[in-house]
Amino acid sequence: MSIQILKKVGVLTGGGDCPGLNSAIRAVVVRGEQLGFEVIGIKNGWEGLIKKDIEILNKKKVSGILIKGGTILGSSRFNPLKVKDGLKKVIKNFKELEMEALIVIGGDDTLGVARRLLKSIPIVGIPKTIDNDIQGTDFCVGFYTAVQTAVDIIDKVYSTAESHHRVMVLEVMGRDFGWIAAYAGIAGGADYILIPENPIDINKICDNIKQKEKQGKLFSIIVVSEGAKLKGKVVLKTKKRDTFGHPQLGGIGEVIADLIEKNIKKDTRWISLGHILRGGTPCAFDRILATKFGVKAIELISKREFNKMVALKENKVISLSLDKVKGQKAVDKDIYQITKIFSQ
Ligand code: F6P
Repeated sequence: MSIQILKKVGVLTGGGDCPGLNSAIRAVVVRGEQLGFEVIGIKNGWEGLIKKDIEILNKKKVSGILIKGGTILGSSRFNPLKVKDGLKKVIKNFKELEMEALIVIGGDDTLGVARRLLKSIPIVGIPKTIDNDIQGTDFCVGFYTAVQTAVDIIDKVYSTAESHHRVMVLEVMGRDFGWIAAYAGIAGGADYILIPENPIDINKICDNIKQKEKQGKLFSIIVVSEGAKLKGKVVLKTKKRDTFGHPQLGGIGEVIADLIEKNIKKDTRWISLGHILRGGTPCAFDRILATKFGVKAIELISKREFNKMVALKENKVISLSLDKVKGQKAVDKDIYQITKIFSQ
């Protein structure tokens, strides 16, 4: 009787969580078992590789997680580059755990750490972030669910704005780029869509609201991205930065609402959707995208094709050199044009 030696593959989820992470993990495990892999789940992003905090995954453990938000592995913004000998420890533990390769499900920061390890660890990346700002892929896991959640909220806010003849300002996440604001604003029929790619002209917005009032439109919906700039500056919640150097954004919604009230004396309210956009069950698009990405990632590993990132391009799942997909992407020109058409 021959004993089957399983090849081990690690999988981790790093950075801010999003809906669809579990769908990707499930796909890696299910397809991985078919290809003869044992999948090792690494807890809490890169931190799990420093602490050797792992859990062997199997089909039973991932059963039912397709539809669950968050990540069964946990996530963190732990940055091994900020720890003494962090990368060395990651490489040492990867080898001691006898893994052949690593699947890194992450955004720009998590994949940035992966890029630093490519000479020592065979890696395949899966792009995820509600911000949808990773170069090389049309969509990232989590983005469409965040958009849908924002649209559901805009739809609700719409009726109360209309009843009270108010301006409602909704602030959404997205960090330095306006993908969520642009898509949610278009789908939710926002009157003004304010994104970091375009400086805010508060006087123009106030004039437009007044003008529309004269024409009988007594309420307005404004969707603003947390990173949108007023007089060239972003609004920060605190001076704190995370381990990758990012400031905690937030507050632009309130600033805009105050300015509108002050400038044109129009009753205005604001809400910040914040982490609500990262929560909840993934929409069908994200479940499918994450499943396709997970299957592709483990299949690349079984073909020994490493240093790759899986991506969606023109509705096809492809793979790109991970070390070439650096930097982040701004909102497409055509989407940007549409946001402008509806912000007049
Ligand atoms: O990158 C995803 C994201 O949700 C951004 O949109 C947001 O600015 C940031 O993470 C918030 O991070 P945290 O959960 O660490 O506050």
